[in-house]
Amino acid sequence: MLTKKEFWNQKISSWEKSKYKKTLKYFDVNSSVKFRLQLAVALLSQIAEGKSLLELGCGSGLLWDCMKLLNMKSYKGVDFSKIAIETFQKKAQNFKDRKQISLSCEDCAQNNYPANIVVSLGLLDWIPTEKINTIAENYKENWYLHSFSEKRHSFSQFLHALYSRVNYKVWTPRYRSADKLLSIFGPKAKIYRHPRLSFGAFIYHLPSHIKFS
Ligand SMILES: C[S@@+](CC[C@H](N)C(=O)[O-])C[C@H]1O[C@@H](n2cnc3c(N)ncnc32)[C@H](O)[C@@H]1O
Repeated sequence: MLTKKEFWNQKISSWEKSKYKKTLKYFDVNSSVKFRLQLAVALLSQIAEGKSLLELGCGSGLLWDCMKLLNMKSYKGVDFSKIAIETFQKKAQNFKDRKQISLSCEDCAQNNYPANIVVSLGLLDWIPTEKINTIAENYKENWYLHSFSEKRHSFSQFLHALYSRVNYKVWTPRYRSADKLLSIFGPKAKIYRHPRLSFGAFIYHLPSHIKFS
């Protein structure tokens, strides 16, 4: 059986291509993933200037693509997939301000890096609860924004679970309740939902002046 790391090494390029490819607006089954990225950029851009950003499970850097021209102090991307990090590295090597970016191929819970803001998109669904505990503990003093798939009794979630089982086979994403994550992240954490995220949601602790719409 493939380890999770092997699974993501095989999957990450096709996953990103299929999730983020342009398609007809009204027939787009991946619109919630695209909106998740759009929303994260809209929120983070309000506070990114002069700040250090740490992204866990960064993939090949699609969030960084949208944020690299903002005046961040630094960006660090962590992903345990060698393929993701190598693709990201190739892309970033031509970026004029390379000194502000660093990438690390390792498990998301292996280290505790200094950062003003910690973000993850699509990571929590793929890691066990013990690793979420570690991330929450490591970064409890930081601003953070993490997406997750909220456990719901909905037809779209039923279809998603079926699709994942058929297509991904060995490893499938987990759905968690907001209460479960709030109990892990503690009293500062809040939940954000939006119809365009479908059953996706964010758990976050961000400055109070941040505007969600
Ligand atoms: C669903 S993809 C999301 C990629 C990217 N954040 C995005 O939204 O486009 C999940 C990413 O998390 C990474 N990942 C999964 N488990 C991980 C772990 N334990 N440590 C580090 N990275 C992990 C995978 O390699 C993959 O790049």
